Amino acid sequence: MAHHAVTPHEGKLLVLTPGLGAVATTFVAGVEMVRQGAGQPFGSLSQMQTIRLGARSENRTPLIRDFCDIAPLGDLEFGAWDVHAADAYDAALHAGVIDKHELAPMESFLRTVKPMEAAFDQQYVRRLDGPNVKPEGTKKEWAEALRADIRRRLDETGAARAVMVWCGSTEVYLRPAPCHETVEAFEKGLEDDDPAISPSQLYAYAAIMEGVPYANGAPNLSADVPALEQLAEEKGVPLAGKDFKTGQTLMKTILAPGMKARMLGVNGWFSTNILGNRDGEILDDADSFRAKEVTKTGVLDSILQPDVYPDLYEDLYHKVRINYYPPRGDEKEGWDNIDIFGWLGYKMQIKVDFLCRDSILAAPIVLDLALFLDLAARAGRSGVQEWLSFYFKSPHVEVGHVPEHDLFIQHVRLKNTLRVMMGEEPLTHLSENDEIYENADAS
Ligand SMILES: NC(=O)c1ccc[n+]([C@@H]2O[C@H](COP(=O)([O-])OP(=O)(O)OC[C@H]3O[C@@H](n4cnc5c(N)ncnc54)[C@H](O)[C@@H]3O)[C@@H](O)[C@H]2O)c1
Repeated sequence: MAHHAVTPHEGKLLVLTPGLGAVATTFVAGVEMVRQGAGQPFGSLSQMQTIRLGARSENRTPLIRDFCDIAPLGDLEFGAWDVHAADAYDAALHAGVIDKHELAPMESFLRTVKPMEAAFDQQYVRRLDGPNVKPEGTKKEWAEALRADIRRRLDETGAARAVMVWCGSTEVYLRPAPCHETVEAFEKGLEDDDPAISPSQLYAYAAIMEGVPYANGAPNLSADVPALEQLAEEKGVPLAGKDFKTGQTLMKTILAPGMKARMLGVNGWFSTNILGNRDGEILDDADSFRAKEVTKTGVLDSILQPDVYPDLYEDLYHKVRINYYPPRGDEKEGWDNIDIFGWLGYKMQIKVDFLCRDSILAAPIVLDLALFLDLAARAGRSGVQEWLSFYFKSPHVEVGHVPEHDLFIQHVRLKNTLRVMMGEEPLTHLSENDEIYENADAS
């Protein structure tokens, strides 16, 4: 199978996060804990999962990290921007996700990750304010300043390559505007300070211009506009997004494919959450919630295909609620009530009460995205990386493509892409003892 040779990883890899809040600090502190032998990277495919190569009888199932030429954790360096000046240690304490006594041995390392000044405008995240922001300037000047930050942090850390994962707050809901249509229009928009260009798009633009792969962990519009997709293609930069698939949506994309596989009907899915972290506070603002609501509600329609199975799913009533409830901190609780029906239409109910820790689920996603995007860049891939849909609530796909939400299909696609990238055959999962296996192989 034709594949692009992967340029071997050499030198250190800088992982940049706009945002140094709960997710980013849980990621940075977690990587350091794993490096120091103080914890294990559960939840990370790149670190823990194996990958079968060839027929089962060949008995080749290396760890993904041994099979793919991904950067080892020892090679990672970190950089961040935030509107708050707290370094990664204080920010991690504030986030309260990892216990204080576990953070203490990491203190001297975490103190070295100090946030750079944020390109921030309160118009896009209303419930947030802080002193560590770039001086007033045009969007063009901010984009240039971000590019300079990337180069400086590469210099400071001696890293050879960088990737960027947006771990900043959810910005207000924005619709694509004319300035998002072409690279020229976008660059003119930067000069004219077009309000349709959000800060997260400045980071995405700066990353692409510096040849740095970019992933968006939040639901807001960011690199998912034609101008930035086109720029990424031109510069040979991989992109991925958007909105980390954690918590309730992760459960939804595990359960819904099961209902559909068994042809069980669903006519109601009510999801409600309480969470008390800063993310929850920001989502308490209606416009930021709107961005989240859009990414969360598209999932079921896409998995259940009511147009193909109207009798089973056409009447599905889907409601998602997020409630800010400070006492809970990062320890979110998500309830799902699912009204289903089976044989002859007889009704049943499923109740899910997920006491989850959002950032604990999100941190390994940041790690995998950083390592896989870096691999993709070295494999000569550019533009939207649909095979990374596995990690997102609202997968960023190329224009005209239909996003895939089913976690299991996404998983097969991710692993097959890794196989092909490394010059192995993709797997069909047909048994090698089955006659049709040979036919499948021949086709
Ligand atoms: N925690 C999860 O499981 C999860 C899941 C899906 C998506 N997300 C998204 O990931 C993002 C981060 O989540 P979190 O829990 O870490 O939130 P958080 O509020 O703890 O951290 C976000 C940080 O981003 C900073 N920030 C905002 N705008 C910025 C800008 N323009 N430049 C630099 N910094 C900026 C804020 O000051 C804050 O410290 C949110 O958008 C959230 O919706 C999180």
